[in-house]
Amino acid sequence: MYVCVMAEILKVKKTLLHSPICRLKRMLQQLEVSDVDFEELKRNLEFTASLLEALYTDGTRPSFDADDDLQLRSDVVPVEVRDWLASTFTQRVQPISRRPEEKPRFRSIVHAVQAGIFVERMFRKAYSTAMPDQPADVLNCLRDVDRWSFDVFALDAGSSGHSLKTLFIELIIKHQLNGRFKVPLSCLMSFLCELERGYSKHTNAYHNHTHAADVTHTVHCLLLRTGVLYWLTELEMLACLFAAAVHDYEHTGRTNNFHIYTRSELAMVYNDRSVQESHHVSAAFRLLQDENTNIFMNLTRTEWLELRSLVIEMVLGTDMSSHVLHIKAMKTCLQHNESIDKPKALSLILHAADISHPAKSWSLHSRWTPRLMEEFFTQGDREAELGLAISPLCDRQNTPVAQSQIAFIEFIVEPTFSLISDMAEQIVIPLIQDTPDPSPTCSRYRCVSPHRAQKGLQWTVADLVSFRSMWMRHTEENKSKWRDKINNSVSDIRDEPEMQTGQKSA
Ligand code: CMP
Ligand code: MG
Ligand code: ZN
Repeated sequence: MYVCVMAEILKVKKTLLHSPICRLKRMLQQLEVSDVDFEELKRNLEFTASLLEALYTDGTRPSFDADDDLQLRSDVVPVEVRDWLASTFTQRVQPISRRPEEKPRFRSIVHAVQAGIFVERMFRKAYSTAMPDQPADVLNCLRDVDRWSFDVFALDAGSSGHSLKTLFIELIIKHQLNGRFKVPLSCLMSFLCELERGYSKHTNAYHNHTHAADVTHTVHCLLLRTGVLYWLTELEMLACLFAAAVHDYEHTGRTNNFHIYTRSELAMVYNDRSVQESHHVSAAFRLLQDENTNIFMNLTRTEWLELRSLVIEMVLGTDMSSHVLHIKAMKTCLQHNESIDKPKALSLILHAADISHPAKSWSLHSRWTPRLMEEFFTQGDREAELGLAISPLCDRQNTPVAQSQIAFIEFIVEPTFSLISDMAEQIVIPLIQDTPDPSPTCSRYRCVSPHRAQKGLQWTVADLVSFRSMWMRHTEENKSKWRDKINNSVSDIRDEPEMQTGQKSA
């Protein structure tokens, strides 16, 4: 079984053979079987030496070089896109300036068994029994809730603008968390009404309840599709769904840099540090202070503290300026085969979900992009009114949208998804390895036959393998669509019929 798993995983990992570790291993294998191609050996050694040298130099350099960290190639990425990537995804702070002359550019059977039972539970029609009066359109959408292709826009239309509420209830019931943590239904309803209200506060084109619903669905789907779900306790699962649902609560439609430059109230409160993310998580926990909306009222003090700590770390981890730091830290952890810190792994999963639309089908990605651009452009309009320099990608007259999307996919989305795929393998394969125990006495999931556990495992492996090829297929296709647009000189993405829904009313 393990051999089959590794063979399948190896197939998927072909692309990683470029890494020096893999090259070294390959050279060793060749030496062991005396099958040495001296030319190839020389090339591989040269490559590894130059990479180690580069790493050494990088390690001794005192500060971040955004271009290097994001591996930007200056000849292919327009300068305004590079400025945006560097100022958004690293901790490089742009200098405050007035408008310039020119626009600046599972380990044991217990886990295996958990998998089997959990899978079965995942596929129960929980929502339809708990909420029998849902419109047919909603029930239809929710049938796809375990799929990467789930259409949150259709759910939003079918639920008359309540996609977040509908989806959160569906997932809480599906994962049986409402029963486990005795979440009063009335509290849940009131909490979700308030949450949706907060997401509408600034009528954002992108950062609204539909985006929160999308990210909540994507976290569920990522955990399920990668198998990382089987690594989690129920409390951690609850924290993941909650963190995703609240992660942009009361978003102002402006970037953190805008708050900092304009010395906004939020920037003052949070001392310029993760300004919005600090607000999202703080305001969400404030909602729970009212007993009518306190969905965690029946958690023990220990459970509550653990959940709170995890949610805070996850939501603060969505600050894009820590992207490079978090990616580097997890890469190092995986390279050194260190044990993976759960809060860090879950933060990375939420971060990946937050930037996931370019890794989904074009029909979804092409609807999210104009919404985001419209929000950026609205900020640019405001910056112009205030006489400030227009932030990168916020100038509605002068933003290379297609190029920015290709760069975002290549330098941010693909490396993040590649890393979480590697991370999931390192987490899940040890869970699969151990021999099934026919009589598990685990506290969470009991009495599953070895046969069912085996089925669950096969399913997990298959999913883990197909997950990587699925997101890669989408990012490749989306980049190629954007390239087509550049080649066909479609400068205004809003000319596209499918994108005309992208205005304020997400
Ligand atoms: P937010 O949802 O707060 O956190 C993730 C951020 O990534 C998001 O805000 C945007 O600022 C940014 N982002 C997400 N998708 C894209 C995209 N397709 N192009 C550019 N930036 C993006
Ligand atoms: Mg955010
Ligand atoms: Zn978000």
